[in-house]
Amino acid sequence: MERTYLMVKPDGVQRGLIGDIVGRLERKGLQLVGAKLMHVSLEQAKKHYAEHEGKDFYERLLTFITSGPVFAMVWQGDDAVAAARQLIGKTNGLEAAPGTIRGDYAIHTNYNLIHGSDSHDNAEREIGIFFRESELTSYEKVIQKWI
Ligand code: TYD
Ligand code: MG
Repeated sequence: MERTYLMVKPDGVQRGLIGDIVGRLERKGLQLVGAKLMHVSLEQAKKHYAEHEGKDFYERLLTFITSGPVFAMVWQGDDAVAAARQLIGKTNGLEAAPGTIRGDYAIHTNYNLIHGSDSHDNAEREIGIFFRESELTSYEKVIQKWI
């Protein structure tokens, strides 16, 4: 069992895609254990995107992610990090395969609708930036054995 941090970015919220995105993750068999609509502070954005500091798109990325509400989520399941990244698709919407979230709805790299942690360690780090453990819940999913 693994957790991952996913976030519908401001473009996905503005375009009304929260429900669609949540539905895809549910149908894959992942379990939602925490979620909230929130504004990302500049401090949180800098921590979250620390690995990209200094890159040419960094400042634009900070401006974008703090520009409007995001839908922050923690999902849980076997290989949750890899499973979510597969559903999300490649960074550039044009390269993302049809059937993925970005492949179906995004054309650009900067407005690509959703963030997903890229590793187990980054997932735990990112969850810590956006959630307190008390905001996360855990429950037995009785149909888990069928997935
Ligand atoms: P990255 O971690 O490489 O992509 P991913 O979201 O697929 O893990 O980059 C983080 C975000 O930075 C990416 O979702 C969109 C933005 N970005 C750009 O705006 N331009 C770029 O050239 C890259 C690589 C990323
Ligand atoms: Mg990344």
